[in-house]
Amino acid sequence: MRQRSFGRTDWQVSEVGYGMWGMGGWTGSNDEESLRALDRAIALGCNFFDTAWVYGMGRSERLLGQALRARPDARAVIATKIPPKNMRWPGSAEYPVASTYPPNHIRQYTEKSLKNLGVETIDLQQFHVWSDAWASDADWQRAVDDLKREKLVRAFGISVNRWEPTNVFRALDTGLIDSVQVVYNVFDQAPEDELFPYCQRHNIAIIARVPFDEGSLAGTLTRDSRWPDGDWRNIYFTPENLATTLDRVDRLRPLVPEDMDLPELALRFILEHPAVSTTIPGMRRPRHVERNLAASDGVRLPPRLRDALRTHRWDRTAVIQ
Ligand SMILES: NC(=O)c1ccc[n+]([C@@H]2O[C@H](COP(=O)([O-])OP(=O)(O)OC[C@H]3O[C@@H](n4cnc5c(N)ncnc54)[C@H](OP(=O)(O)O)[C@@H]3O)[C@@H](O)[C@H]2O)c1
Repeated sequence: MRQRSFGRTDWQVSEVGYGMWGMGGWTGSNDEESLRALDRAIALGCNFFDTAWVYGMGRSERLLGQALRARPDARAVIATKIPPKNMRWPGSAEYPVASTYPPNHIRQYTEKSLKNLGVETIDLQQFHVWSDAWASDADWQRAVDDLKREKLVRAFGISVNRWEPTNVFRALDTGLIDSVQVVYNVFDQAPEDELFPYCQRHNIAIIARVPFDEGSLAGTLTRDSRWPDGDWRNIYFTPENLATTLDRVDRLRPLVPEDMDLPELALRFILEHPAVSTTIPGMRRPRHVERNLAASDGVRLPPRLRDALRTHRWDRTAVIQ
């Protein structure tokens, strides 16, 4: 497993990290299987884990704590997230910052996550939503400073709203934010335009999330894919969106080399970009862990293939988180 620097911190993180949303509550999650998948990842050298309080209201955090306690020698970087106080996704300028990230809420949810994880310090605490309209508010800035000073949190990040990669620059200008988590994959290439160059100039880490576009780029969805009521993927993949997305996946398939599959190509595309510190595929099954972590072998894509993938860029408008 290859490692990369994580912005201005002194951490070396595995370039393929671990996304833990699914095991917090997507249908079909099985805690015993999730723990086996996590354990396999730790054994294979994955050391960056992205969870959030809202992923099962602590369930995903507790699973991570349990998996890490079972391997006391493992050195992991734990990233989690604070939900907005109003529990509204995505972040929006129409909500005053006092209703999303007041200081007592930032502290309260950090304490909840510390307890769920069973640790004394969170390596990376992130705002789960963001609107740059909140950037100049002195209260969240003081809360971030205080938590770092008290060593309850080592670094702070922002997870930007889906398809709004630039809605964060004023917050980054404060110098208080060490990482940005952003949707970046073969379809969603917009972060390359402005966000990545900014972060490279200022040595801010990039966490590339949703590498498989919630599953379409994993190549396993069909036009008939449906999920039980309450599963978030029904909102993302409405029948119309699913059909449009799968048309695009079909156009992509001829580019997959014979010795690769689509998810591997999708991960390799992300790892090509030097601004990316780590990408965090969502995984609940040990076989997915093994496949995805194997993409970290340092082998580069041929430039012509990379250029061909660039033509599959799909700029979308933010409607959902
Ligand atoms: N607002 C935010 O901050 C935010 C929003 C979304 C996501 N995230 C973070 O980003 C992470 C990744 O996003 P995501 O989990 O939503 O979506 P994703 O990584 O794009 O896709 C996850 C899906 O791909 C499947 N998969 C993984 N590896 C595979 C393989 N090799 N072959 C076939 N299928 C494979 C997973 O299956 P199994 O689960 O069955 O293994 C899961 O259904 C999340 O887990 C979370 O940590 C953050």
